[in-house]
Amino acid sequence: MKGVILAGGSGTRLAPLTKLMNKHLLPVGKYPMIYYAIRKLADAGIKEILLVIGKQSAGLYLEFLGSGHTFGVQIVYKIQDQPGGVAEALALASGFIHPNEDFVVLLGDNLFEDSLREYMEKFQFEAGEAMVLLKKVEDPERFGVPRLEDGRIVSIEEKPDQPASDYCVTGIYMYNAEVFEVIRKLLPSGRGELEITDVNNYYAARKTLQHSSLKGWWCDAGTFASLQEAGLRLVKEHFD
Ligand code: TTP
Repeated sequence: MKGVILAGGSGTRLAPLTKLMNKHLLPVGKYPMIYYAIRKLADAGIKEILLVIGKQSAGLYLEFLGSGHTFGVQIVYKIQDQPGGVAEALALASGFIHPNEDFVVLLGDNLFEDSLREYMEKFQFEAGEAMVLLKKVEDPERFGVPRLEDGRIVSIEEKPDQPASDYCVTGIYMYNAEVFEVIRKLLPSGRGELEITDVNNYYAARKTLQHSSLKGWWCDAGTFASLQEAGLRLVKEHFD
């Protein structure tokens, strides 16, 4: 499988730090945030990674990651000119993924403990169309929340007042190349973005959205509180 990491965006919740550099280059423990997503894919045996970045800090990404050879991977870069949404960023991977190829997508600000191997094997074994990884959280109303019926996701609601479950949809997804056709048909949301939740809801409505739940810790390091939490966890994991 190939890997795609989405690391553009505007990072408004981490301003003013993100006026200086892109969110995924901010320090988390000993490394810039982007290190961990590359490491997770490399550790799962992925050799080819497409990294989608914005115009901001493009040179710094290259300086830190280069061709990827120090991680044992090959990194291809794509520029997303404007932060037009996660699904718009994902569409930039269409030439990188061959027809009939499966791939993993990580949002670059999602940091987590589990290895991806088991989930990738499950997706490939079941020859799925789409899969999301869930995490049980105390505050699901802050996230995209799945509604489960008979063990299957039937819909995902963004930031619901009354969450249908205690789970959130993390920024870890798997798709086959047909996802690009799905994105092509998307319309921008009320905030003018192409939404990954609309992509996942397409599969949920077809009853082909698979899921698994992460066992270890997970956090979305997009706010100051979660960035700090991620730093503490990763300092502990890497240096204790
Ligand atoms: P978000 O956290 O939803 O957006 P953001 O990174 O712009 O931050 P903020 O909400 O504080 O303004 O993005 C989730 C992930 O997706 C993040 O790792 C960046 C990536 N992303 C892109 O690559 N392109 C995009 O257009 C957007 C919106 C996000």
